[in-house]
Amino acid sequence: MQKGRMMYEGKAKRVYESEREDAYVVEFKDDATAFNGQKKGSIEQKGVYNNRISTNFFHWIEAEGIATHYLDTLSDREMLVKRVRIIPVEVVTRNVVAGTLATRLGMAEGTELSRPVVEFYLKNDELGDPLINRSHALALAIATREQLDLLEATALQVNAILRRRLLEKGLLLVDFKLEFGVTQAGEILVADEISPDTCRFWDAKTKEKLDKDRFRRDLGRVEEAYQEILRRIEE
Ligand code: C5P
Repeated sequence: MQKGRMMYEGKAKRVYESEREDAYVVEFKDDATAFNGQKKGSIEQKGVYNNRISTNFFHWIEAEGIATHYLDTLSDREMLVKRVRIIPVEVVTRNVVAGTLATRLGMAEGTELSRPVVEFYLKNDELGDPLINRSHALALAIATREQLDLLEATALQVNAILRRRLLEKGLLLVDFKLEFGVTQAGEILVADEISPDTCRFWDAKTKEKLDKDRFRRDLGRVEEAYQEILRRIEE
């Protein structure tokens, strides 16, 4: 499959037109950014790991009835996906307190939540993706009430699937971010990627961090963490 014109370049991916009217080619890069682009770097082979890890996760959730934009894996770094309009909201689901939730509520990282928390963030780099609630989303016409219900229900379903299957591999799913897209026909799909860039994974026993926090917090052995996640999910 030939790549066409580049449509979009983000921090971690490029999106190209494809030979198919209804599909794009996503190319995963090694570039890494954190804290809304303030920290920049590169993680060797990250694009290859994230393409393959995302492919696995899309297969897992598709197998349990969740619609995603995934169509095919074209190469080490390239995925063919359905053409969608991305809904400008990031949906974060949390099982354990970490990251901005720990800071915002002054809670200790690692505290188990009694039930999963779902949060919405407005996708806006200039504003640093601020936290919003349902009434903001409705007032800003980002999505309808029904669409927000679907986003939240889907995030919780994806959480249940990934959490259960990851635990079988000795991994704790702390939190993760999903993005959703709408097709020409109006179908809402899980889009973007699901990878150590967008999830927090801890070793279930040792609580060692095996995700992008190793880059964000200069913990070292970043590439090894991505490799370890791939190894465990494919074993
Ligand atoms: O930083 P915070 O604790 O809010 O992140 C929650 C989860 O969402 C983490 O797994 C993080 O990797 C993911 N996230 C993301 N993209 C963002 C913000 C958060 O993938 N822009």
